Amino acid sequence: MENPHANADDILTSSGLEIVRVPHALTEDELDEALDGVEILGIRSQTRVTDRVLRNHPQLLAVGAFSIGVNQIDIKAATTHGVAVFNAPFSNTRSVVELAVAEIIAMTRRLTERDKSLHDGVWYKSASGSHEVRGRTLGIVGYGNIGSQLSVIAEALGMRVIFYDTSEKLALGNAQARSSLREVLSEADVVTLHVDGREGNAGMFGAEQFAQMKEGASFLNLSRGFVVDYAALAERIKDGSISGASVDVFPKEPGANGEQFESELRGLPNVILTPHIGGSTIEAQQNIGTFVAGKLGRYYRHGVTDLSVNLPRLALEPTDATRHRIAYVHRNTPGVLALVNQTFAEAGANIEGQILGTAAQTGYVITDISSEIPVEALAAINSMEDTIRMRVLSRPEK
Ligand code: NAI
Repeated sequence: MENPHANADDILTSSGLEIVRVPHALTEDELDEALDGVEILGIRSQTRVTDRVLRNHPQLLAVGAFSIGVNQIDIKAATTHGVAVFNAPFSNTRSVVELAVAEIIAMTRRLTERDKSLHDGVWYKSASGSHEVRGRTLGIVGYGNIGSQLSVIAEALGMRVIFYDTSEKLALGNAQARSSLREVLSEADVVTLHVDGREGNAGMFGAEQFAQMKEGASFLNLSRGFVVDYAALAERIKDGSISGASVDVFPKEPGANGEQFESELRGLPNVILTPHIGGSTIEAQQNIGTFVAGKLGRYYRHGVTDLSVNLPRLALEPTDATRHRIAYVHRNTPGVLALVNQTFAEAGANIEGQILGTAAQTGYVITDISSEIPVEALAAINSMEDTIRMRVLSRPEK
């Protein structure tokens, strides 16, 4: 659905899948109808995958979200039905980082103001308020995929990097961790937010935090709209204590191009507003296509759940000798693995490799068997009380 990048097709085809493309998102009823006979579903952000749809299609093995977020999928229901969900958590990281770098330089040189002045027909050449970024201190709040990448590139530009993260993080290059947000705010010339969207982060950055920033510092938010109080930011821009801001994400974003956009930040000096395009590049779309198709293909052929959103993550690679692979999703109750292995042993099946993972209520085990698997053993496992889904992947060649 929804036209993921075409480079997904070759990967999926070479995994033995036949592809049917629907260029747009479907409603729940349409999706329900379209999924007859479909084993792998690929979507972007607009197709909602509900409990009803999953329940009605027990043949569905996996859903690949060709996106970063997975809010459009009922993850709990997918797990209950043993449907693996995959996404592309860091395929657009570099794109966000490059936008942040561009904006840090643009704000520090007051580029958008100079540009606007010439477009308005007014020559205005001045060094006032313009700085090099070299030697300035960048404070990164949230040192995850994006924050840590930005750290490396900012240092390459000659910036000094400090950061604060609620989790313990390895500081890359010469970056230095600070033990509180306040410390970062009091030291940084540029503060940039890259926290995740967990509930507790709603409104985490408001008047109090802006007041703790250095006089004349600038601010970026390319993370989530709801983490920042933009009315408070607008006040500080107007009184000049914050010299510039770059904002890519908003608490309420219009649903379609051409719609009216409202914000208290509109029209303020040295404020760069972008319509949530941090991750929107051709390269990111290509990366997402390759990444998610790769995950779906490997799950389909080999049962590998590496980086799955909801199933325990297992990456047992098939060897040349692998003949029969059983991928078994089950409820995570004590003793299931012992029962499975006892069933195989009683049927005389020789286990050559096995890996188990559990996450909350779900367990997943991949078992490679070198001998022919007796059908009675499979039937016995399939009918076990805790079975959610069992797949036999015969001769999963590399
Ligand atoms: P990530 O999960 O790798 O990193 C987030 C980091 O923030 C984690 O290290 C976490 O421990 C830390 N953190 C969470 N709450 C914190 C707090 N209150 N104070 C300090 N640290 C905190 O996420 P990633 O991939 O780096 O993405 C960061 C943000 O960027 C996310 O909110 C994501 O939705 C957003 N994003 C925006 C895009 C855009 O188009 N503008 C595109 C891609 C991601």
